[in-house]
Amino acid sequence: MSKNLLNTLQGNVYDVPALWMMRQAGRYLPEYKQVRASCDGFLDLCYNPNKACEVTMQPLRRYGFDGAILFSDILVMPHALGQNVWFEEGIGPKLKALKSGDDVAQLGQGDIHVHLNPVYETIDKIKGALVQESFTDTTFIGFAGSPWTVATYMIEGGSSRNFGTIKNFAYTYPEQFAQLLHLLADTTADYLIQQIHCGVDCVQIFDSWAGVLNEQDFAQFCIAPTRHMVDKIRAVHGDIPIIGFARGGGYYLPNYYAQTGVTALGIDETVPLSVMKKLGGICPVQGNLDPQVLRAGGDILRDSVMRIRESMDGVPYVFNLGRGIEKETPPDHVEQLVKWVRS
Ligand code: CP3
Repeated sequence: MSKNLLNTLQGNVYDVPALWMMRQAGRYLPEYKQVRASCDGFLDLCYNPNKACEVTMQPLRRYGFDGAILFSDILVMPHALGQNVWFEEGIGPKLKALKSGDDVAQLGQGDIHVHLNPVYETIDKIKGALVQESFTDTTFIGFAGSPWTVATYMIEGGSSRNFGTIKNFAYTYPEQFAQLLHLLADTTADYLIQQIHCGVDCVQIFDSWAGVLNEQDFAQFCIAPTRHMVDKIRAVHGDIPIIGFARGGGYYLPNYYAQTGVTALGIDETVPLSVMKKLGGICPVQGNLDPQVLRAGGDILRDSVMRIRESMDGVPYVFNLGRGIEKETPPDHVEQLVKWVRS
């Protein structure tokens, strides 16, 4: 079969689409929870190469997905830049919020690669485990957060309700905000270059909060920094496939594709199938299944999978969710998904 996911990102079309799931390693799996419980905190898991490798492999052993995604988090980047980051049980990420240009100027004093070395070691271990466990046709996916999405956490101090704090910062201190986005784009590109150097087959840029931006801001805060990253990565690794996942990008997706230079588009569940099909005529596309449908399982899951497969017939398409799997999802339903995607 060779690497059908990688080949799809290079434009190949398959009758049975390549399949992986965003957040495929995580709390819906009892074996993940067990490893997680042995850690001092979530970041401890992210920086422990043996454990991070183990949880990366878990969903492959159960389901034989066509993609393995590095286990880490988008918030290791602000951490590497010197910001305080921690995860509160049952709440989520917390950061010591940036309040001013001075706070931005303090970032990035140390060497990010020293801080992120455990992630590079994890990649090395996963490469070995994929061979050792005979997952040689599995495409290995690296990733990072987009500058805009990571900045929301850095300025809001955690997950946001209405993005008022970051927009107020961006409009009140435009130069300092541009400086922050530039710093993130530049260092995140270096981080992805190093991931590729360590052996991932392709990378995905998660822009989970692209959908809250107006037209002007989408161009400035989402497209421009992403383009800088793509250019910088391509200068070193010319033909590496880059999946751009601008969640909620909707009407802007054709511009996002054309202007960032990404290879393929991640598509969320709000995009109509006819639109995804059209985009699939321009570039490889991935995603769209509503994670709540997966959580429900049964007939609605089968019908949704079949509808997506029929719609995407004839274009390069990677089966995936429209966003990360819900932690309440029964593992059996993922088994149903795999069966119907591959039937
Ligand atoms: O996809 C994978 O399996 C690889 C690992 C991965 C994680 N986070 C592990 C994780 C990836 C690719 C991410 C990306 C990520 N992290 C995003 C972008 C994608 C998306 O879901 O929108 C964002 C916004 C984050 C930041 C983040 N990390 C939040 C908001 C949270 C808390 C919410 C939650 O789901 O708990 C996390 C924690 C997190 N990242 C967990 C996992 C498995 C759960 C933490 C735990 O085990 O306690």
